[in-house]
Amino acid sequence: MTGHDRGTSWWSDAVVYQLYVRSWHDSDGDGYGDLPGVVDKLDYLSWLGVDAIWLSPTMPSPDHDWGYDVSDYVSVHPELGSLEDMDRLVAEAGRRQMRILLDLVPNHTSDQHPWFVEARSSRGATHRNWYVWAEPSPDKAPPNNWLDASGESAWTLDAETGQYYLHNFLPSQPDLNWWDPPVHDAFEEILRFWFDRGIAGFRIDVAHGLYKDAALRDNPPMPEGQLIGGTGGQEQRFSANRPETHAVFRNWRRIAEQYEPPRLLLGETCVPDAEKLARYYGQDDELQLGFNFPFMVSAYTALELSNVVRETLGRLPVGAIPVWTMSNHDKSRFTTRWCSNDDVRAALALTILLTLPGTIVIYYGDEIGMTDVDVPLELQRDNMFLGGRGGHPSRDRARTPMQWEPSVTGGFTTAGTTPWLPLGDVSSHNVADQREDPRSLLSLCRQLVSVRRRHIKGCGGSYEQLAAAEHQWVYRSGDVVVAANFAGEPAEVPGLAGPVLFSSLKARLPEKPFGEPLRLAGFEAVVVQLWP
Ligand code: GLC
Repeated sequence: MTGHDRGTSWWSDAVVYQLYVRSWHDSDGDGYGDLPGVVDKLDYLSWLGVDAIWLSPTMPSPDHDWGYDVSDYVSVHPELGSLEDMDRLVAEAGRRQMRILLDLVPNHTSDQHPWFVEARSSRGATHRNWYVWAEPSPDKAPPNNWLDASGESAWTLDAETGQYYLHNFLPSQPDLNWWDPPVHDAFEEILRFWFDRGIAGFRIDVAHGLYKDAALRDNPPMPEGQLIGGTGGQEQRFSANRPETHAVFRNWRRIAEQYEPPRLLLGETCVPDAEKLARYYGQDDELQLGFNFPFMVSAYTALELSNVVRETLGRLPVGAIPVWTMSNHDKSRFTTRWCSNDDVRAALALTILLTLPGTIVIYYGDEIGMTDVDVPLELQRDNMFLGGRGGHPSRDRARTPMQWEPSVTGGFTTAGTTPWLPLGDVSSHNVADQREDPRSLLSLCRQLVSVRRRHIKGCGGSYEQLAAAEHQWVYRSGDVVVAANFAGEPAEVPGLAGPVLFSSLKARLPEKPFGEPLRLAGFEAVVVQLWP
């Protein structure tokens, strides 16, 4: 064991806030959110009780995939600010006891990164082998059947040099070749560059993807019923998920632990089950945290969600910390996907999220119940899935500007500026109104963060599922019990005696006399204090 026990690292039981910088706050009136805009709003996150902020990509990029196509790993995108702005953000966040995590994209670069520009200049180029090149098949077709994220061939022919290069995402995002040692050296330097600047860690993009099968074997069809880990009906068995990737993370973990406090490696581990997720934690010597995609894509039922939690906690190595999130910049927001845009159901979901053991990641706007926005084709900015390309809806729906106030600009940008994506319904859901209303989703969320601090943090991640009727999920977490009713009708929960510390409903049903079963309204979740 090289690491830290569950419960002793700053991220155990922490609340991390995923902030999509371009949509957060526009400080200079160009229609895009930026780093000074993040500084402007730090007090809000501090008031909410956030421990760390994960910033969506901040590095220079031609923005074919909004920063996930990096052209320089050791700088800041000029539209978002400068390195000095980043330093100021780290310092200002630190003054408020919050840490900054950056998004690192090691699976691929932009085709405009100088490495790739040089690599494609000739077959003998210095960086040629930094990318995955292959000869055309005898009939000039791509080297194998691999598909990219939009369901097209993952290979593009480079006419000048007569070879195909691999891209698991857009053709302008060539995959790096992790079989080549200099790629490892380059990323170690990048890690150190940011760690030295006080960055608390990285969310690692496509963490499961780095190595590809050396023999470039064809991918098999996606197993029936599997929702994660494939594209275009194909399982990414050989184009991702290769065992060699683990050695990269063991090495990065050693680097992360040379710092005080140790830097955090939080992987985008897009794998279909807890057993595969557990592998990325290694023997407490790889990633300290890995996102749990089965939880996010689960059906919104007590049975399915509780099964994912039980299975995850059962499979993760002893002491490993689970990570729970309900939305991100790639998926439909949970409010729409799970809750049909209904605030009562959203309050139930937030209560569950904020009372689970481990690290919680809140996607910006989830705390005020922002919903998916129907972005018309002419305003869409997501090239990868423009107009539903490849059968995937545009991800713009969940990337619209933060709704700060009920005004024309939503408080996101200056008057007269058109935001880069259209605003959602700022009058029904916005920070300003909800801060004033003690019964709003935002106020509930803030109360839950404080319940978490008082009753769950520092309890070593303890969780126990308790017996419950159909459509109910009852569990002990830390020193409280959470009882959630996923049905629309009232329900009784026998055997719970302690006082109710928190309810997801704006108005509770009248309490029954002591000793009688707790009564829950439809879609209500409560947090009950355990008697000592
Ligand atoms: C990850 C990101 C997604 C991006 C892709 C390619 O899945 O979350 O937004 O398009 O990687 O970098």
